[in-house]
Amino acid sequence: MIYLNNAATSYPRLPQVVEAVKRSLLAPPQEPGRCGFEDPLMACRSAIAKLYGVADPLRVLLTTSATLGCNQILFGLPLQAGSHVITSCMEHNSVLRPLNELAARNECSLSVLPLEDDGSLSIDRVGGALRPDTRLMAFVHVSNVTGAIFPVQALALLAAGRNVPLLIDDSQGAGLVPLDLASLPGKVFLVAAGHKALQGPPGTGFFIVPDAVSLSPWITGGTGVHSVEDRQPPMLPYRLEAGTPNSCGLAGLLAGVTHVLETTPAVLAEHRRTLAEHLVKHLPSPWTHIAPGATADYRAGVVSLVHPTMKPSEIGLMLQEIYGIETRWGLHCAPLAHRHLGTFPDGTLRIGLGEGNTIEEVEQLIEALHQSGNLT
Ligand SMILES: Cc1ncc(COP(=O)(O)O)c(C=O)c1O
Repeated sequence: MIYLNNAATSYPRLPQVVEAVKRSLLAPPQEPGRCGFEDPLMACRSAIAKLYGVADPLRVLLTTSATLGCNQILFGLPLQAGSHVITSCMEHNSVLRPLNELAARNECSLSVLPLEDDGSLSIDRVGGALRPDTRLMAFVHVSNVTGAIFPVQALALLAAGRNVPLLIDDSQGAGLVPLDLASLPGKVFLVAAGHKALQGPPGTGFFIVPDAVSLSPWITGGTGVHSVEDRQPPMLPYRLEAGTPNSCGLAGLLAGVTHVLETTPAVLAEHRRTLAEHLVKHLPSPWTHIAPGATADYRAGVVSLVHPTMKPSEIGLMLQEIYGIETRWGLHCAPLAHRHLGTFPDGTLRIGLGEGNTIEEVEQLIEALHQSGNLT
């Protein structure tokens, strides 16, 4: 099987990740404040903090998904009737749906901005959408549909100038497109999945907060310590983490992030870019690709393809059943992106290139696309 669905979750799993999960499960349990005397999560927080240039690892909160982090941030911010939020058409449902839920409860109104004709996100357009009641800007760093990379530094500068918090969804960029949070001005929240380029197991993710006070706890419950307090303890990480953590998954995430730090995001991204550019350059007719846009490149290894007459689902199934190539087809949880790109409702055939893929595998894909795309 050729696995080309790494934008969904990475495969094959790194041996050291598998080993770390196994070691954690086989060892006597170490759950902070609950069993054992060690805190295995601190090393994971520290590795993620290092990746993002965050000085205090306690600002890294560990979760089971990027989705959970988005919900904690969006429902934990003081958005209330009259709040205005700016976001883009390229967001994943893990940002869009909590925002839509808040809007349906009349807790905020939304401005969902389109991209420019060249595929870029215009800072001028975002600036023009700012209002006196804007309480949040929420943007994806790297699109999971096109691989486009958006200018989060400029967004942070704009947001900070107007004293508006910024939420960055870095699920696709984490481990590939470096982001130094220490250099970003203002109040920046970041959320990411652990199971994509960071190579952690599924059921891992995290979010990073600028301080201990900006968010109200969205999930409350046991912390293993400070049990006498009748409400969530005020200090990090307890304020924003409740319940027994997925410590074996997070042991795997630590192994994955350690690997990324050692290999470097630049090297990992270059591999994906080389493969993606090879695919785009040799894409057989009549396939076309959705370009990631003027300000972007293929560092994330995401390439979305469309065929003039065949649906992505038809071709995707054919690739899987006849050629043993796993891709992903459909809307990729980002419906507004497809409305904007003109690929709604069928979506695209998404190729998610990963660390384990080779040029030979991309060539097999190209041949399979050539054969299956000319069957009509
Ligand atoms: C851009 C983006 N945001 C958020 C998510 C959600 O990640 P998770 O499934 O870990 O919640 C994904 C995963 O597909 C994604 O690509």
